[in-house]
Amino acid sequence: MDAREMKIKAAAAALAHVEDGMRLGIGTGSTAEEFVRLLAEKVAGGLQVQGVPTSERTARLCLELGVPLKSLDELPELDLTIDGADEIDARLRLVKGGGGALLREKIVAAASKRMIVIADATKVVDTLGAFPLPIEINPFGQVSTRLSIERLASELGLSGSMTLRTRSDESLFMTDGGHLILDASFGRIPDADALASRLNQIPGVVEHGLFINLASLAIIAGPAGARVME
Ligand code: 5RP
Repeated sequence: MDAREMKIKAAAAALAHVEDGMRLGIGTGSTAEEFVRLLAEKVAGGLQVQGVPTSERTARLCLELGVPLKSLDELPELDLTIDGADEIDARLRLVKGGGGALLREKIVAAASKRMIVIADATKVVDTLGAFPLPIEINPFGQVSTRLSIERLASELGLSGSMTLRTRSDESLFMTDGGHLILDASFGRIPDADALASRLNQIPGVVEHGLFINLASLAIIAGPAGARVME
């Protein structure tokens, strides 16, 4: 089974949790997009859901495939969010933001009664941090913000480089909210809870990709099939 087949398997298993009438948060990334494709087939077959997309990219795909959308302000409380992740540990703590949608993804997940993570088995780790941690920062004062993050990292014994995310044409990557992303390559984040709460205290940090106490369940697809972590 190749990587795409595993993503489809995880997405299909998540679809079983979607019920008629649900208000759904819809994630961003290649795995979430497989979910959108399967969801669109169900919608074409009569399933009634209202989706809140976590990015402009997801919104475009949903509109193209006929998945009905609302804004989060129209549907401020959601039944379920289904989204991918870059890393998942045994306590269902996540690193997210590889696709740059972490801010809206976190707001939507927090507005949902449940969040189901869908991923292939390569995303499961013992310790978070091998995937560079995306940190969304305001462009204003970005140098000061970066220095504050570097000081915090050194205080917490984290080492590694931080890179301002760019696009393939080397222009700066801007999020849907008009912010920048610093990708922090710490290698290992032994105390993700401490890092998350300390990052939240730095004023120029808009959000970070550590999702803690948000996921209720993860569906992990590997060559032998899908398994559930909860
Ligand atoms: C986007 C995300 C994605 O969920 C994460 O990057 C996983 O993406 P993929 O399913 O393509 O591996 O957090 O901001």
